[in-house]
Amino acid sequence: MASLHYTSAFFIIFSLHVAYVAKSDPFIGVNYGQIADNLPAPESTAKLLQSTSIEKVRLYGSDPAIIKALGNTGIGIVIGASNGDIPAMASDPSFASNWINSNVIPFYPSSNIILITVGNEVMLSGDRNLMTQLLPAMQNLQNALNKASLGGKIKVSTVHSMAVLKQSEPPSSGIFDPSFTDLLKGLLEFNNATGSPFPINPYPYFAYQSDPRPETLAFCLFQPNSGRLDSGTNIKYTNMFDAQVDAVRSALNSMGFQGVEIMISETGWPYKGDNSEVGPSMDNAKAYIGNLIAHLRSKVGTPLMPGKSVDTYLFALYDEDLKPGPASERSFGLFKPDLTMTYDAGLSKSSPTPSTPKTPVTPSPKSSKASWCLPKAGISDTQLQANLDYACAQGIDCSPIQPGGACFEPNTLASHASYAMNLLYQNSGRNPWNCDFSQTATLSSNNPSSDGCNYPVSTVRCNWSSCKGTER
Ligand SMILES: *[C@@H]1O[C@H](CO)[C@@H](O)[C@H](O)[C@H]1NC(C)=O
Ligand SMILES: *[C@@H]1O[C@H](CO)[C@@H](O)[C@H](O)[C@H]1NC(C)=O
Repeated sequence: MASLHYTSAFFIIFSLHVAYVAKSDPFIGVNYGQIADNLPAPESTAKLLQSTSIEKVRLYGSDPAIIKALGNTGIGIVIGASNGDIPAMASDPSFASNWINSNVIPFYPSSNIILITVGNEVMLSGDRNLMTQLLPAMQNLQNALNKASLGGKIKVSTVHSMAVLKQSEPPSSGIFDPSFTDLLKGLLEFNNATGSPFPINPYPYFAYQSDPRPETLAFCLFQPNSGRLDSGTNIKYTNMFDAQVDAVRSALNSMGFQGVEIMISETGWPYKGDNSEVGPSMDNAKAYIGNLIAHLRSKVGTPLMPGKSVDTYLFALYDEDLKPGPASERSFGLFKPDLTMTYDAGLSKSSPTPSTPKTPVTPSPKSSKASWCLPKAGISDTQLQANLDYACAQGIDCSPIQPGGACFEPNTLASHASYAMNLLYQNSGRNPWNCDFSQTATLSSNNPSSDGCNYPVSTVRCNWSSCKGTER
């Protein structure tokens, strides 16, 4: 039965893909990050969006110029309160009221604000104090909206990284990390009571990076592949996006929150990267985004949520040229600063759906077998310290970076944090989201080991049924 379901699902995807005439799709959104110095004027961006089938935009903050420019376009707007706002918002109801008064009231309803996210990936901050303040901050913001008679019209939530999951493969076994379940339970009760979504950031791109085999690439790019069987449900998954989304569904269901809707707050694929990076390319980015959009438009849904497309915010509208880290970090943009398309993913209202590559795209030969999880360049000492503290509090052996240990020298924060972050990654299943650390870490094929200090690495290859390879 499962395979029958899949055969027909695929038939629908590919036949619609050919016949589809682009129009508006309420479930397609885009992330508008602004860590850049070359972005178009807000008015130009508003016009651009209106020429596409994108119906929602997520801002990381609450830039008034952009919120205003999106006025009277009907485009749904997600705005964000920063992690730095959380303590004041949690302890002081008037801070929350002021936040609504300055960031919402002047623009609403001509600017169609639909959701406010409080904080970004707070569970990964390593800051327990901040985590416990998150729910009270959301409650105060909700109360402020209610007082302004906007409760229910504008929802409140917070954005999670996939690292809140302890296990995601196979999808039916998806569960949250037990160290977060107390906090998540409170947040989910809030989502459930207020009807707000559970936003999370799955990236099949990172899954491919951690397992750079051609069949994994095809699975991640919605291209023909042999599929992966979930032995818990006997469902054969044919793409990584559905698998990741259903793992979240299973985790939510296992805590009793069948009624809380998942929102994909970020997903994307870089069209360019450094030579050492596996996966970024124009063809791969076009295949992922183009096929994802076709998949969403088919409304097939996922095996655990059939017949309905989850709200999905593509990452990202433009490149963010000032972001630190490898070149891929600055190469997720769907559009260039001159408003032309980076590649045609079928988002334009006036153009027919483009043909996406029909044959699996072969991975570049530079693919590496082993990978280490290391901090990105330009990460602050505060964040490195938080990552170090967090990693060593998870039960890994941090004695090699203590005085006298083999990896104590060089005695720098960056070196000690790298060691601990990598060790936690290697010990926690080597899922891509185990190498996230609030987006301050990245997988590298360059071995950082030196002078008797060995950074553990694994070249184990796993599928959902077995693992093989060597572990050092
Ligand atoms: C998983 O790996 C094992 C051993 O390499 C192989 O026999 C099996 O067919 C694989 N299963 C899938 C679903 O790829
Ligand atoms: C979710 O909300 C519904 C309706 O308010 C309530 O009946 C149910 O108990 C809630 N579920 C959980 C797990 O809190």
